[in-house]
Amino acid sequence: MRKKLLSLLLALVMVAALLPTVTSRAAGEKLIAVTFDDGPSQYTSTLLDGLKQRGAKATFFMQGVNAASYPAVVKRAWLEGHQVCSHTYNHPQLTTLSSDNIRSQLTRTDSILDNAIGLDLSYMLRPPYGSYNQNVLNIAGVPCLYWSVDTLDWKSRNADSVYNQFLSAARDGSVVLLHDLYPTSVSGALRAIDTLQSRGFEFVTVDELFYRRGITMKNATIYFNAYPGSAGTASGIQTPGISKALSPSGGLQITISGDSRGSVYYTTNGDTPTPANAQKYTGPFTVNGSCTIKAVSVIHWNSIRSKVATETIEYIPAPAPVLRYENGIVTMTDSNPSATMHYTTDGSVPTVSSAVYTGPIAVNPGSTTRALAEAQGFGPSAVSLLTVTPGGNLMRDVNVKDWYYENLAAAVDQGILNGTSPEVMSPNQSLTRAMLVTMLYRLDGTQEAAAPVSYSDVKADAWYYQALCWATANGIVNGYKDGTFLPNADINRQELCAMIYRYLHLKGYALPEGEAGANRFGDVQSIGSWAREYVAALSDLKVVNGYGDGTFGPKRGATRAEAVTMLMRAMALPAPEPEPTPEPTETPAPTEEPTETPEPSETLEPTESPAPTEEPAETPAPTEEPAETPAPTQEPGRIVIVKP
Ligand code: CO
Repeated sequence: MRKKLLSLLLALVMVAALLPTVTSRAAGEKLIAVTFDDGPSQYTSTLLDGLKQRGAKATFFMQGVNAASYPAVVKRAWLEGHQVCSHTYNHPQLTTLSSDNIRSQLTRTDSILDNAIGLDLSYMLRPPYGSYNQNVLNIAGVPCLYWSVDTLDWKSRNADSVYNQFLSAARDGSVVLLHDLYPTSVSGALRAIDTLQSRGFEFVTVDELFYRRGITMKNATIYFNAYPGSAGTASGIQTPGISKALSPSGGLQITISGDSRGSVYYTTNGDTPTPANAQKYTGPFTVNGSCTIKAVSVIHWNSIRSKVATETIEYIPAPAPVLRYENGIVTMTDSNPSATMHYTTDGSVPTVSSAVYTGPIAVNPGSTTRALAEAQGFGPSAVSLLTVTPGGNLMRDVNVKDWYYENLAAAVDQGILNGTSPEVMSPNQSLTRAMLVTMLYRLDGTQEAAAPVSYSDVKADAWYYQALCWATANGIVNGYKDGTFLPNADINRQELCAMIYRYLHLKGYALPEGEAGANRFGDVQSIGSWAREYVAALSDLKVVNGYGDGTFGPKRGATRAEAVTMLMRAMALPAPEPEPTPEPTETPAPTEEPTETPEPSETLEPTESPAPTEEPAETPAPTEEPAETPAPTQEPGRIVIVKP
């Protein structure tokens, strides 16, 4: 162990040399922490040579698997005063792993680094893809680091581009992200260091940067930068900007710009945005009256978010036209008698230049009329909408131009879908479990009363009760192990598949067997084993599709429009052979016996329920939403930044 002792002495000397004696910020001091991820690699030695020549210090977030291949490089980096950190063993998206697997990714890497350096140390963590939640931070139990300048070096693989990105964004207190997997990153970074050193910048390790800024890095906390005056976290995030413009198509268009590292959340009722009440900003939206908008840039609700921006809007629109339909004729009225109404009948957006309403207009079934009003002293009104389905039913929130129009209109015309209130379909509202059961019940068209059910959270006078009795009696649902049904819980996509599948099975449709089809989805492991057969069959039949990134998203919800679309696709499948049994009252066909096929234990396990314990972070922080992040497996150094 003499070797280890020697290393320890050396290390102590190094640490002593590293720790500066000043704690307050010297005037004019300009510091940058440059960080290299994913290595070491064959290029790391060249990088270390270059850093040594320049007297620059860097921080290396190493993958355990690569550190094991280059132990001498790890040790050299450490001995030359660079900070050695962990980037997990082999770069998984930690938020998708079990706690045990997260722990093993970290401990395995730590021991590889310990062995290479010859000491028992604790290593700062950078979670791969910048993807983390509080659970990941807690298990790591060390300070964690994000970045504030992204050179996109893994993407460009071009030294000039690396240099330019670095130069254009780096400033005092920046944490710059690079990857020592590419020679272009090494040469671009060294050039940028030269330029910035000539401008008086000092390149220090992450530890030193925060130390000299007077920021004590806490365990289980993520840091982004050490910009002057920042606490390393929230105040480094740019406060959103809110702008407004009169929209010719009615109302006032609101645009919010936010910090590009996070997402913007907002409220329009003057409340301070929280995970519970805020909406995620996805693009300009329209308001139709006076209101107070509050917006916040969020990287993580619990720790990293901006100050709240407030914009009070004084806006008085003209009253919107009221549209009525009868016998092929649409009439419009406006409560302001001097208002002029403008309309379109093809579903396109009306503006103050559209046709002027002068009297009743004839429309065809399968068309959408939209109208707005303008009046002296008011802004343009909100747009009113009225769609007449081919079957002559009215929908006031579905446009013939919507992607789901045809299926939704067909479902309404067939009596499968009712509105959430008269003529209001709420296509973008989440579908609840009770809603789907009711739709299947209506689709079945049965009039017979089924045996009563006794779920602990369902009352016999609930609007969906008859449907639930029918669905239970026919094995389409059977609730959770704890005796609940959770009727008002949002359905998730694997439950949706299960129920549609069982309905098709009940009706005698030919269904593909086995669960191999689920393997087409990159996240097959997160599909409950009980549901894979259903997901496989319905995706084989193209009733359900995956997402653009190749995932299925089994725990994601579905909107009413999405669910209706799946259901109508299912109904368009080749019809099953007619029942062979001429006397169904005597002997029920064996396939109809619900107790045999869906075993209660394998259907809707309680763990599939939206139990609050499943989401420890309880925050809609953008980096935690796998659905929004690009597929992580494609690029070793791929960075997940969710733009608003
Ligand atoms: Co990485």
